[in-house]
Amino acid sequence: MIRYVDHTEGVLPRHLEGFFADWPNPPSPDTHLRLLEKSDEIVLAIDEASRQVVGFITAITDGVLSAYIPFLEVRPAAQGRGIGRELTRRMLARLAGFYMIDLVCDADLQSFYADFGMRPTAAMIIRDHEHQAGRQRADIHRGEQEFPGCIEGASSGEVPLAS
Ligand SMILES: CC(C)(COP(=O)(O)OP(=O)(O)OC[C@H]1O[C@@H](n2cnc3c(N)ncnc32)[C@H](O)[C@@H]1OP(=O)(O)O)[C@@H](O)C(=O)NCCC(=O)NCCS
Repeated sequence: MIRYVDHTEGVLPRHLEGFFADWPNPPSPDTHLRLLEKSDEIVLAIDEASRQVVGFITAITDGVLSAYIPFLEVRPAAQGRGIGRELTRRMLARLAGFYMIDLVCDADLQSFYADFGMRPTAAMIIRDHEHQAGRQRADIHRGEQEFPGCIEGASSGEVPLAS
């Protein structure tokens, strides 16, 4: 049986192994848990027998007009059983009322999202593969070097970071 929850209560890093399949430099399960805790909205699919998380979807939002869905993934062994569709359905229900709901996907998944009323558009992205496993404290200083004067407090290490 799959149970769907909107929180990380009772979820430990060891319940999150096996995600980010095919990523050369994936986030660790600890980083994955932190990512879930810091997202504005999440839905997890949990296998009741093993207590493993088998799928997840996240959203970040300003709470007013816009929401963005960075991640949807179902563990490879659990794919093809309707879990991805159910996670998406539940997340879109949670995001009802926002003017903008955006995500980026490969072309072959456009029909998956079109079933939920989403439509293709143009997008611009950055993918910094060096940081695929997660942002580090030192990265704020790199930002200050690349864009001098843009990050107040960067030189004194006062910039808040997601860790
Ligand atoms: C995309 C993903 C979440 C779907 O999860 P899932 O649990 O297998 O999906 P479902 O079982 O609910 O299947 C829903 C439909 O999507 C289709 N689908 C799934 N993956 C697809 C893909 N890569 N390309 C095209 N169609 C796909 C299925 O064929 C199914 O269609 P059907 O019901 O008409 O047969 C899963 O394949 C996955 O984790 N992929 C890797 C990560 C990824 O690409 N995430 C999306 C980021 S935008």
